[in-house]
Amino acid sequence: MEQKFEELLEKLAEADMAGGVDKIEKQHKAGKMTARERVLELLDDGSFEEIDKFVVHRCSDFGMDKTVIPGEGVITGFGKVNGRGVYVFAQDFTVFGGSLSFMHAQKICKVMDLAYRNGFPLIGINDSGGARIQEGVESLGGYGEVFYRNVRASGVIPQISVVMGPCAGGAVYSPAVTDFIFMKEKTSYMFITGPQVIKQVTSEEIDPESLGGAKVHGRVSGVCHFHYASEKDTLAKVRELLSFLPDSNRVPPPIVHTEDPVDRLVPELDTIIPDSSRRPYDMKKIIVPVLDNRHFMEVHANYAKNLITGFGRLNGKTIGIVANQPNWMAGCLDTEASVKCSRFVRFCDAFNIPLWTLLDVPGYLPGTQQEHGGIIKHGAKILYAYAEATVPKVTLITRKAYGGAYVVMSSKHLRADINLAYPSAEIAVMGPEGAIQILFRKEISDAEDPAARRAELIQDYVEKFASPYRAAQLGFVDRVIFPRETRSVLIKAFAQLEGKTEEKPKRKHGNIPL
Ligand code: COA
Repeated sequence: MEQKFEELLEKLAEADMAGGVDKIEKQHKAGKMTARERVLELLDDGSFEEIDKFVVHRCSDFGMDKTVIPGEGVITGFGKVNGRGVYVFAQDFTVFGGSLSFMHAQKICKVMDLAYRNGFPLIGINDSGGARIQEGVESLGGYGEVFYRNVRASGVIPQISVVMGPCAGGAVYSPAVTDFIFMKEKTSYMFITGPQVIKQVTSEEIDPESLGGAKVHGRVSGVCHFHYASEKDTLAKVRELLSFLPDSNRVPPPIVHTEDPVDRLVPELDTIIPDSSRRPYDMKKIIVPVLDNRHFMEVHANYAKNLITGFGRLNGKTIGIVANQPNWMAGCLDTEASVKCSRFVRFCDAFNIPLWTLLDVPGYLPGTQQEHGGIIKHGAKILYAYAEATVPKVTLITRKAYGGAYVVMSSKHLRADINLAYPSAEIAVMGPEGAIQILFRKEISDAEDPAARRAELIQDYVEKFASPYRAAQLGFVDRVIFPRETRSVLIKAFAQLEGKTEEKPKRKHGNIPL
């Protein structure tokens, strides 16, 4: 027996060494952790339960039968993050460049199936040269199996991708289907066709970082939701994100109690909104102080900054926050903000996370670029997402809520549950200048003193419409509140809505405008 134990120890040690000392050194020299180091960094100490450590590929072409490495270039298993279960896979670049063979894919599929069946989040750490070239279509089939499972698990368990190295060609589609993508700056990139193919086809010359690096995807394409300078920071932030999320759609999000009093007043909120409605302010100055311990985890912080999305807690419970940002493009909604908003709202709805929406929005961004870019279908996504969301929805209008943007951003009409407004709210079809120009153009130009007449008409319009009271008279706004009481009002509002149930019509699925 002793000999058999020795044999097992040897085999385990061999698998731990993966691609070998030289390849591990090369990985470290490139400023990258190994797959095993990443998994151990992500998970609580001593919690990792590895499976499939002895799996090998089954390819014999191109001399592959002479290079067989146990583990097949991907580490898989179960572990804990903040004491809660997660399934994980991490591609090992030291083994055939982390490339995906059929058996490598089988290992990933096994943890995906376990995560799906047992109701735990799935974290995939990607660092791979793509499909294992020596295996041909077998490895492509492996990708298909992974994609199918990503789609099946969508909205059932949280799926998080962490891109720590190359992720190119078909490999990008699995992360793309997952709920959140983290990227490590400078050493990771994602693209469908790489620089060489682009050069051949279009003669354009571009390096991998400028084509699909973390900053490009975090700021320009919006493909990635979070990016950080170090692998350790990236993995720490994955842990932070998980602290807000439920294990699956079958259980409620976790409750993390703090000492922060539920009735804490926030007096500084009374002076955030400028007297002039033309002046910008930072909406985060309203969001952050209201949350438990002022803890806000922003999602897509550098993409479509005219709209803020993120997670926080109120009375220990996770809340999804969506807000216009008057500091950026005056908080106008454009195509990018629309997609960012709708995907976030749908994530929260899928995982039973209540939504707090803050409005200060002058409308959709006008312009040919927006119209030709499909603002109609992208803008419609927002109303679709809010209307179909059955989680508790509380809306707060801080200042402008104009036109279609008022309607689509979690209005009463789309079945928000509780709609609040500050006294500074202005709920109208459009801003005073635009409205007066349309209604009284002739009257103004005919007036003896057109400027004075325009000012008079604007003043009249402001008095009539630039307030929350007309909407409150109609019941479209439930309460006009003092800013300083925002935290306690919100906590009571969400408490009221805890038992909310809403039947959805029977159908296969809706047809959100894509
Ligand atoms: N299939 C099989 N082996 C692969 C591979 C793949 N798709 N991608 C990388 N490898 C192997 C390399 O042959 C190399 O093996 P070796 O150490 O035994 O020589 C090892 O992984 C490391 O790759 P290397 O090219 O040395 O690393 P790099 O950091 O210089 O470059 C890539 C990384 C990903 C840019 C480069 O390997 C590459 O272009 N791979 C192919 C990408 C691709 O087109 N994939 C198919 C599309 S889905």
